[in-house]
Amino acid sequence: MEIIIQPTADAASRVAADLVAGVMRAKPDAVLGLATGRTPLRLYQELIARKLDWRKIRTFNLDEYVGLAPDHAESFHSVMWTNLFQHVNIDRANVHLPDGQTRDIAAHCEEYEAKIRAAGGIDIQILGIGTDGHIGFNEPMSSLASRTRIKTLTGQTRRDNAPAFGGEAHVPKHVITMGIGTIMDARQIVLIAFGDAKARAIAAAVEGPVAAITPASALQLHPVVKVCIDDPAARLLQRSDYYRWVYENKPS
Ligand code: GLP
Repeated sequence: MEIIIQPTADAASRVAADLVAGVMRAKPDAVLGLATGRTPLRLYQELIARKLDWRKIRTFNLDEYVGLAPDHAESFHSVMWTNLFQHVNIDRANVHLPDGQTRDIAAHCEEYEAKIRAAGGIDIQILGIGTDGHIGFNEPMSSLASRTRIKTLTGQTRRDNAPAFGGEAHVPKHVITMGIGTIMDARQIVLIAFGDAKARAIAAAVEGPVAAITPASALQLHPVVKVCIDDPAARLLQRSDYYRWVYENKPS
């Protein structure tokens, strides 16, 4: 893991954008794994501002709420189109998100996995992190080998996501999410997290033991992970001085 600590969320988002843009320039038909939540929004703004060529880029999103129509304002379909896709020259046929309204969830999840494989696998996966250490919607105790499937959200995650829905009662209970095993298959992973509320999850993910209670800790077993965080999210890291020193003294 490379831990990149920046003074602000904007600066950390720019570092993440450099990584994604680098992959897109090197491989015009790259496969991007994308995330929702508030955290990646600055990264998406940064990518939009860079006027990259998205014509051949393929995307797979991590997750979607079960039961929400794609045009529901809080569906991850809507969130992605509003915040990224409608602002770039992406081909609609190359955009993939799980279908929250599928009638056969198990078959749909298998098909989603097959589509990722057929695309050649994910070149770079963007991840946020939940306050409980979840990635995608893989809540604590998700199998570290899990594949795309239905999951039940924790009360904490439903409370965290309640503001967007106008109250916890409106937050769906179930989701379809790529599994931790699916995420781990990506060639490169960029985890971004900002703010004090994420400090505990980041410390557990980066420095804690690899354990299903902190799903993001599985990333310690991946060979190419960059963790782009701001100072407040880095607050509880025991070795933050070393991570900063490493970043400032990278070999040329
Ligand atoms: C959501 C998403 C995750 C996201 C996380 C944090 O539930 N499924 O992909 O990383 O929660 O969201 P936020 O960035 O808004 O804090």
